[in-house]
Amino acid sequence: MPHWPVTLLFSLRVINFCNGGLLCFAYVLVVVEAVTGAVFYPIFFFCSIYWPCRSMSNCIKQYQNMVKVLVFGATGAIGKEVARAFSRNGHTVYGLTRSAKKAHELEREEINGVVGDVSDPSTWKHLIKNVSVIIDTSFDYTNPAEKASKLIQEVAEAVKEYPERRFTYIYTSGTWVYGNDAGVTVTESDAVNPIPIVAWRPALEQLVIQSQDFDGVVIRPGMVIGKSGSIFGMLFSAVQKGHITLYNDENTRMASVHTEDLAEMYVAAAEKIYAAKGQIFNVVNSQTENTTDIVKAIIRLVNPESTITYEKPTDPFQTALGLYSPIFDISKAVNLLGFQQRHSGAVDGVERYYKSWKATATEWEDCKN
Ligand SMILES: *[C@@H]1O[C@H](CO)[C@@H](O)[C@H](O)[C@H]1NC(C)=O
Ligand SMILES: *[C@@H]1O[C@H](CO)[C@@H](O)[C@H](O)[C@H]1NC(C)=O
Repeated sequence: MPHWPVTLLFSLRVINFCNGGLLCFAYVLVVVEAVTGAVFYPIFFFCSIYWPCRSMSNCIKQYQNMVKVLVFGATGAIGKEVARAFSRNGHTVYGLTRSAKKAHELEREEINGVVGDVSDPSTWKHLIKNVSVIIDTSFDYTNPAEKASKLIQEVAEAVKEYPERRFTYIYTSGTWVYGNDAGVTVTESDAVNPIPIVAWRPALEQLVIQSQDFDGVVIRPGMVIGKSGSIFGMLFSAVQKGHITLYNDENTRMASVHTEDLAEMYVAAAEKIYAAKGQIFNVVNSQTENTTDIVKAIIRLVNPESTITYEKPTDPFQTALGLYSPIFDISKAVNLLGFQQRHSGAVDGVERYYKSWKATATEWEDCKN
């Protein structure tokens, strides 16, 4: 048996004895070594320098890998801005889209446009080896629950082929999971009570954050405003036509977030995965807004003749539009991800958001003709 294990063990025993003092350890080491012979030094030197360096370089490598991202739903209201935000921050982005034309548009934004289908892994599996962050912003209108959970499983399978690497998966949920809770302030640690349209989401959120296959993060945006505008665009278009139906009564409220402010949070979560993994983040502006006030601001701007009627919701989507949103305490996103609301809320930004939506809608019309 060589000397050095004995030397090391003995020295460790001694630092234990002298309360972990490093000087004491070094002193004992030298004395013991002088007694046990010079053979041990090179080995000890090698171990003490080589192993820490090796584990540190692995660690650095892991974080360097994060600069490559695959975005599912890269041309949707959220995904488009997410892909652009990563690109703007210097990361390499692959954006999956169904049409070759849209893939081409992504290329214009310095995003690698890949033609494929979220629900067909053979169209995107080959990209997994090139990325370390996978983001789902896609939404399947006909079968959202099944499609989203299938995707989580397929990504988990795909990343298993690279057991030596660590992947990040960011899933897009939404604040509708809190349901109707007007006047109550909620945080991520409060229980959810989803409205029917998103009843399936909390289970998927758990699947993502508890996964052993990847570092999972869940982002829950509020109603997305700005640019092409998602549901907000529906309000513009109804008011333009002269009549808008709202649900329940004039006391409904919504939590919103600008698509660019939201997109920055995906980048922050990926860059700070050491803090974000296994976490859920509510990403909304710091104030909720009165839905009727928002619609009245649109009416004043777009079509003062337009009228509003209130109806009882008769389907899950109408229930979602007639939501009495709770108030959000967003300190988690602020403190861990550095969330900042840079853009105006729905009422204050109405003119700017309307103009952007209209320009996008016109482009769409031109393109159809
Ligand atoms: C993936 O990366 C390899 C080299 O790292 C590259 O040759 C290949 O083109 C990349 N694949 C795509 C789809 O960009
Ligand atoms: C929402 O705004 C409408 C007018 O735009 C007002 O009548 C109503 O009282 C407001 N509701 C709340 C809860 O603030």
